[in-house]
Amino acid sequence: MTSLATESLVFVYPDGTRALDGVSLQIGGGEAVGIIGQNGSGKSTLIRHFNGLLRATEGRVLLDGQNVNERHVAELARIVAVTFQNPDRQIFAGRIGSEVAFGPRNLGVRGTDLEQRVEEALKAVDLGPRGAANPYDLGFSQRKLLALASVIAMETPVVILDEPTTGQDARGLERVRSIVRRLVGAGRTVVVTSHDMRFVAETMERVVVLRDGQVILDGPPEEVFAADRWPLLGTTHVEAPWAAQEGARLGLGSTPTEASLFTALQAWGGQV
Ligand SMILES: Nc1ncnc2c1ncn2[C@@H]1O[C@H](COP(=O)(O)OP(=O)(O)OP(=O)(O)O)[C@@H](O)[C@H]1O
Ligand SMILES: [Mg+2]
Repeated sequence: MTSLATESLVFVYPDGTRALDGVSLQIGGGEAVGIIGQNGSGKSTLIRHFNGLLRATEGRVLLDGQNVNERHVAELARIVAVTFQNPDRQIFAGRIGSEVAFGPRNLGVRGTDLEQRVEEALKAVDLGPRGAANPYDLGFSQRKLLALASVIAMETPVVILDEPTTGQDARGLERVRSIVRRLVGAGRTVVVTSHDMRFVAETMERVVVLRDGQVILDGPPEEVFAADRWPLLGTTHVEAPWAAQEGARLGLGSTPTEASLFTALQAWGGQV
């Protein structure tokens, strides 16, 4: 299992935008971490440091305790796979199957191993029978799932997904959720950015909240979405999921997920 860390990470874009302003995070091997915060708070900038796509302006980024600057991008690609927020910046092959095969082939996977990986990854995102089609025959939400399949097929110990929930309907969300759970179950370290608070609360074990390039909250969903945190969440335009709001309204404590709300309601019903 591979751990990730940042130490006082600062990143300044060439135009002077200070997108990360001293982020210190430790993510243990096998953890499932959601990164949330308003548009422009620094989520995408942060995760692009873990595969060397961006290099720290100040501070350090560590993989298993080793500075990523000491590793080549090709070496990092074996350890960390990251999806782009915009799938069209990632997709370039003319066939869906070739698109998914590209990453693992680059890592040296060949023959039936490669075919099997592609088949499994496409099946995981419900694109199993579409391997021969052109990626641009797919709608946007399906191209997001294709980008996700390409990353799964790499079988890296660290998987980072930038806004996989954008544009997904209930079925797509369930796909993404089960993929994240399966990856975590297999011991991968998974980091996911999302604007969908229900998805984050129900899928991730830990939530990191960014505002203006700084971490303002970090903890399990029960803590981060508890009613006493709402004013702080509001400063980065985050609203707690419906279940958390309903639990607080009914005086049931912190119930960030529908399952926890249901359990609290049952316990409450049992008392009367
Ligand atoms: N290539 C770039 N050049 C200059 N500034 C940039 C660039 N990319 C992002 N920024 C700026 O850096 C800050 C952080 O942006 P980033 O994309 O990391 O935020 P985000 O949290 O991922 O936002 P979103 O929720 O919209 O995806 C913002 O102020 C953004 O405008
Ligand atoms: Mg982003």
